Amino acid sequence: MRSNHYFSVFCILFISLLFFSCSGKQGGKDSVDSKVNALLSQMTLDEKIGQMCQIDPGAIGGQEKMEEAVREGQCGSVLNLFGAREVNAIQAIAVKESRLGIPLIIGRDVIHGYRTVFPIPLAMASSWDPDVVREAFRISSVEASSQGIRWTFAPMIDITWDPRWGRIAESCGEDPYLASALASAMVEGIQGDSLNDPTSLAACAKHFAGYGFSEGGRDYNTTYISEPVLRNVVLKPFKAAKEAGAQTFMSAFNDLNGVPASANDFTIRQILRKEWGFDGFVVSDWGSVEELISHGYAENEKDAASKAINAGVEMEMVSRTYSDNIKQLLDEKKISMAQIDEAVSNILRVKYRLGLFDNPYADTAAEDLLSASSLAHARKTARESAVLLKNSDKTLPLSKKINSVAVIGPLADAPRDQMGTWCFDGREENSVTPLTAIREMIGMNRVKYVEALEYSRDKDTKYFRKAVDAARAADAVIFFAGEEWSLSGEGQCRGEISLPGAQSELISLLASTGRPLIVVVMAGRPLAIAKELADADALLYAWHGGTMAGPALADLIFGDESPSGKLPVTFVKGAGQIPFYYYRKNTGRPASAKSWTPIDSISRDNQQTSLGYRSSQLDYGYTPLLPFGFGLSYTTFEYSDLTLSSESLSDGGTLTASATITNTGDMAADEVVQCYVRDRVGSITRPVKELKGFQRIHLEKGEKATVEFVITPENLSFFNGTTTVTEPGHFDLWIAPDSESGLHGEFSFK
Ligand code: NOJ
Repeated sequence: MRSNHYFSVFCILFISLLFFSCSGKQGGKDSVDSKVNALLSQMTLDEKIGQMCQIDPGAIGGQEKMEEAVREGQCGSVLNLFGAREVNAIQAIAVKESRLGIPLIIGRDVIHGYRTVFPIPLAMASSWDPDVVREAFRISSVEASSQGIRWTFAPMIDITWDPRWGRIAESCGEDPYLASALASAMVEGIQGDSLNDPTSLAACAKHFAGYGFSEGGRDYNTTYISEPVLRNVVLKPFKAAKEAGAQTFMSAFNDLNGVPASANDFTIRQILRKEWGFDGFVVSDWGSVEELISHGYAENEKDAASKAINAGVEMEMVSRTYSDNIKQLLDEKKISMAQIDEAVSNILRVKYRLGLFDNPYADTAAEDLLSASSLAHARKTARESAVLLKNSDKTLPLSKKINSVAVIGPLADAPRDQMGTWCFDGREENSVTPLTAIREMIGMNRVKYVEALEYSRDKDTKYFRKAVDAARAADAVIFFAGEEWSLSGEGQCRGEISLPGAQSELISLLASTGRPLIVVVMAGRPLAIAKELADADALLYAWHGGTMAGPALADLIFGDESPSGKLPVTFVKGAGQIPFYYYRKNTGRPASAKSWTPIDSISRDNQQTSLGYRSSQLDYGYTPLLPFGFGLSYTTFEYSDLTLSSESLSDGGTLTASATITNTGDMAADEVVQCYVRDRVGSITRPVKELKGFQRIHLEKGEKATVEFVITPENLSFFNGTTTVTEPGHFDLWIAPDSESGLHGEFSFK
């Protein structure tokens, strides 16, 4: 007996020692969970409900109301509060004046930068450079955390096929493989090496799920997504974000197959929790619980709260259905205490992991905004994000010795517009515009600037003559075209996706001067630019490039570096071609040059059977304007010697595909080498191509490199409607500069 007693005492001491040795750090799961349990056991129901509510100071009715809610333990999180002192003041109320002193988690949308604004996410995706993207998000987190923010509603990783949808700007584009690689990098950058580092923020993978498929590209709209598309496309980046450790997920606004995403038990409880084992928490989108009523999915606020909680939405952003109804729902047994405890535990777990209990305050001396190294990285990111779409007769780069350049257009000197959609905390006075940067690079008096159009939608042609005169007098013309920042982003959708206002007309006039015409497009979406592409001698698609867009573009225009971005979305010829994505299905009647009859060549006495009956459009044909993965360089790259390590791959094995890439042009540059696969026959039809790997390499002039891609059976697996399988059969493989060309090989999976 006695020795048993000593043994138990020893065990207790040992376990406590273990517990305390972990407690100051991020801590093992057990140590965090025992703290969570200990705290949970002391909490009243009101305090638990409080943790499940996130408030916005404006929406709740001002500072005093917010303070009162925090003091009373009626709130677990505040969004849209920033500034180290402001955050510390409210945190002090939570920590010192609320009964249990539970710290708040302060959230904010830091989507593509805080004060240093990086290119919009779609632009960053064009870099195909996870390292650069990771660092951009790390910098954003360092800046945001210095203002007291410890949670960002990023990464936004909705796959979309629709450039009309304004939020395409915030996305990584159309491809699940590229978006997954970037989602991991973004989460890693946001959360840093250790969550409890004061510069780490909790990431929030959003919008879960399917939001990017809003019908007609109209924001917030209904989505219908088959389970294979959901699992093979939409959910892929979310899974990657979860695996990279994302601590929170945001439930989306959209109705998904008849069940709104913010009440969707299948995506949240079944997939995220059960299948993926997620142990962070799920926050609703702004008011999306209350919106279940408008969706026609809930009768009233009580019903909305019940449905969201039952589906696993644990924190309600802004709307108040949880605070007002949870007690009654418990009494009526519509929800259970176990569900509330689970939700609160998940929220507290994230707060412990962030170290908020040990260190709830922001360091007021840590302000680190717009440092030289952050700005340098923003410039590099913007440079890598620009995609060269045309360069006839080597129009670009321009010589720095050029005598005169006409800089024209509404985006040449538009500091706010170049920052893009999501930048609550960016300041336009910190933006360096292309006009400023070009003047700095070649000298003020060699640049003739004519704005010509005051903003992107301007239709007034009164300065056109002046612009044309300036063009005639110059050695080269650079027209900065695009969209204002407010034409993309949340709620900013368009039906037509052409260049707004009279820009296109002016570009044609400038082209008719015969001077070398460079068009730089700074926009939030892939615009339909067929006409401008034809008119321009060179076209650089720069998106909204952020604070340092100007210097980055000057670096490229004057050849300090070569453009190296590649398109993360297919460019369509016009809105009528949407959706058009490279991993489409082949159809039973794929079109080809032979089968397509352009609309203008249909003869008047055409017979019914002479039109080909193939999958195409009479006006647009069957190919997009520009394919996914496309992007030119100032140099040229030759792809040769495709080698496959074996003709077949078997279960548990790997296959290595390699090719030699040679820089055959006359300057050093980066190339993004891509690897695509086609599964020829499947138990459900398979895409014509799927990206399975990519590498950004740097090659000096004349240099060559062997690039290898490892294919595993898992890479080839897909959800076929019933299960996830890799099916035996034949596969095509390409190592390629884009999704429409490249070296081709074949292998089989047995
Ligand atoms: C609504 C947006 O959909 C979401 O992305 C954002 O994080 C929240 N508002 C909070 O601002």
